[in-house]
Amino acid sequence: MTDTIAEVRGREVWDSRGRPTVEAEVRLASGRFGRAIAPSGASTGSREALDLRDGGSRLGGFGVHRALKGIAEVIAPALVGRDIADQRGLDEAIIALDDTPQKTRLGGNALVAVSLAAAWAGAAAADVPLWRHLRRLAGLGMEAAHVPLPMIQIFGGGRHAGNRIDVQDFLVLALSAKSFAEAVEMTAEVYFAAAALMKAKGRLNGVADEGGIWPDFSSNEEGLELLTEAIEGAGLAPGRDVGIALDIAASSFGDATGYRLALDDRTLSTGELVEMLARWCDAYPIVSIEDPVGEDDDAGFVAATSRLGRSIQIIGDDYLTTNAGRIAEAGRRGACNAVLLKANQCGTVSELIDASAAARRLGWNAIQSGRSGESEDVSLSHLAVGLLSDQIKVGSMARSERTAKWNEVLRIEEAMPPSALWRFKLPRG
Ligand code: PGA
Ligand code: ZN
Repeated sequence: MTDTIAEVRGREVWDSRGRPTVEAEVRLASGRFGRAIAPSGASTGSREALDLRDGGSRLGGFGVHRALKGIAEVIAPALVGRDIADQRGLDEAIIALDDTPQKTRLGGNALVAVSLAAAWAGAAAADVPLWRHLRRLAGLGMEAAHVPLPMIQIFGGGRHAGNRIDVQDFLVLALSAKSFAEAVEMTAEVYFAAAALMKAKGRLNGVADEGGIWPDFSSNEEGLELLTEAIEGAGLAPGRDVGIALDIAASSFGDATGYRLALDDRTLSTGELVEMLARWCDAYPIVSIEDPVGEDDDAGFVAATSRLGRSIQIIGDDYLTTNAGRIAEAGRRGACNAVLLKANQCGTVSELIDASAAARRLGWNAIQSGRSGESEDVSLSHLAVGLLSDQIKVGSMARSERTAKWNEVLRIEEAMPPSALWRFKLPRG
């Protein structure tokens, strides 16, 4: 049965940083509907879809009235009456309405909220969970029992913690977990152990933007020492049960002309930065590094991948900005072997599906990711399961906008046969 769009509307709601953001609702002729909230990054890549803000003095310039105006006056009139089952047609229509490379006219935040709300409405019309609807939209087999492995933050740094340390995320992957539920449980034990360690040292100062423990280290490397200690403190074997993942987010502190590690009071060349990371990989149970160098440091990405890509996962986030063309190009150059997928970096569900397919063609690992500014919206959990992403990343074990995503995957996992959890393996790319 076809169902058509009767109404598209937006409203200003609030995100986890207390900033306004865009919520969109798509109502169908049948009365069914979908709703989604746009997330928002702090360490954004320069090639991402634009997070359109009002500027001026209201709410520090973060208001989204302009984005809402675009939804009401440009997007809604073009979508009303269209078939909700045709997600790609809807996405192509709103991309054409914007008609700029980085969605600067209507705003990536307006587009992603509408596109995701349409996907939820499409799932409601088909009477299936969103993840099943996404499988169908992406042309992926319904039969694949697949739950992503959670990559969960323990310490949060960089721009998410007042630049207290340079490295942005110290995360863990529960390598020996048999289920998503077990992976989250193991991570919670590490999180508790890390908090207890910091407390014992008198250095527990609350949590950062994504719920990770606010870092109070005397060097970046101390974060690795304490995280390894926390894994052991939780009774788990570092490297066997639990591996460490880092998001260096190197664009936040440098580029190919020099990387300034303020906490360590050192400035490194690209080569020195890659060598430092290689030394860390030898000394600690690191299995994954994201954005090891800056987003414009192509040669640095190639160097990091050729130096480390056979033993760990090298993820492009700010570097690839969920762009199918950039992913394919990086594959040709041998830069990265994995990609972070963020719906709001590209702007629409269909572009996200294309980016995910580009990574699959290369044999890369794909990590579905939220942003540092999040909300109660759980689209991310469905995107990760529906698009067969290998991993899912959305911060830590504290703060409800983070746990909302873990909890939703726990619910989805109940619909899967046992042993559906993706087991960590190195990409063949
Ligand atoms: P952001 O950080 O949402 O602030 O961009 C997340 C990340 O870098 O992975
Ligand atoms: Zn990142």
